[in-house]
Amino acid sequence: MRYDFDRPVDRQGTASIKWDGRTDRFGRADVLPMWVADMDFPSPQPVIEALAGRVGHGIFGYTRADEDYRQAVIGWQERHHHFTPRPEWLCHSPGVVAGLALMVSAYSAAGDGVIIQPPVYHQFKAVLDALGRRTVLNPLRYDGERYTIDFADLEAKAASAKMLILCSPHNPVGRVWLRDELVRLGEVCLRHGVLVISDEVHADLVLGDVPHTPFASISEEFAHHSATCVSPSKTFNLAGMQTAVAIIADPELRRAYDRWLHDYHLWGLNPLALTALVAAYTHGDEWLEQLLAYLRANAALVVSFVRDRMPELRVQPPEATYLMWLDCRALGMTGSALERFFVEEAGLGLDGGHQFGVGGDGFLRLNIATARSRLVQALERMENALSGRPRERAAATEG
Ligand SMILES: Cc1ncc(COP(=O)(O)O)c(C=O)c1O
Repeated sequence: MRYDFDRPVDRQGTASIKWDGRTDRFGRADVLPMWVADMDFPSPQPVIEALAGRVGHGIFGYTRADEDYRQAVIGWQERHHHFTPRPEWLCHSPGVVAGLALMVSAYSAAGDGVIIQPPVYHQFKAVLDALGRRTVLNPLRYDGERYTIDFADLEAKAASAKMLILCSPHNPVGRVWLRDELVRLGEVCLRHGVLVISDEVHADLVLGDVPHTPFASISEEFAHHSATCVSPSKTFNLAGMQTAVAIIADPELRRAYDRWLHDYHLWGLNPLALTALVAAYTHGDEWLEQLLAYLRANAALVVSFVRDRMPELRVQPPEATYLMWLDCRALGMTGSALERFFVEEAGLGLDGGHQFGVGGDGFLRLNIATARSRLVQALERMENALSGRPRERAAATEG
């Protein structure tokens, strides 16, 4: 079927963090929200129908991962990423960040060093701080256009670290790591006995030409020195379902993870999350293809709009994710002042880059997973704010 991503959907009144949480986050309920990483699009029709069918059954008792779940996850990984995890490698997680926290708990001790590569998804550091781990920074290199891994620095830092949390593809800089880059990173980590935790939640959202390579698919050795988190949450806009899959090939690592999952009594699946995951991974291919085409066009629109009408900013099309990383350093605003400027002057809720750690200051993260008309509205408001023109207030509360 043909999906209509152009139709703006009113999400207000659904307890949506992105829409209904605007006052808490930005101090105002009237900003156009282009922040938190979920999409303004309904999930694929087969998911909606499967959920409706499951709801109709009417009994929502304790639920476990079954054969359909395992086949759905494995089939998806095979079709989209040429990776065939064994059924026993799959463990449930109540969300990706929860999975990362369980892995950090299972595989390291308080005070151990864990490498992250900023600017990076801010919850990595939040988890490490909460669990009393020592965050070791291996900042990405930026040449004004493209981000790369600083391997010399990684080699030096790996000597004092126990683990590395890899963001693959990378939020917020939008890189899809090349197979060669992953091999190099993996070899450094193996040499120093650093375990790789690979967060692959954005793996299905590849917009460029470089395919995503699952870290554990590269070799047996990499598979056994890593633990991976995947989820249908970003791909199919199911983040509120809070379900993810930990893929752990090594039996010892899997047992350690499972122990933590059971100790906190987090092993059970939400029955609706299970239904949604199976339907999405089994019948979501057609929807995803159309979504990616829509996101590519949105990204291209942002790139040309910025080039033609906001030349003081810089942006590259993301290789993956629906998050665009705007280099606003020429505006001379740092810290939360940049975010506040667009709240106050443009009526826009964007994520300030300073939240993503070293290298993020002076950048903004723009979520483009919304109807094109809204995206155009957001860009026009940015343009007006930058040129000092007052924005049209009437549309500020549009849903
Ligand atoms: C890299 C990365 N990991 C994890 C998450 C969140 O995953 P979950 O909601 O399943 O905890 C996000 C959300 O933006 C993300 O960008």
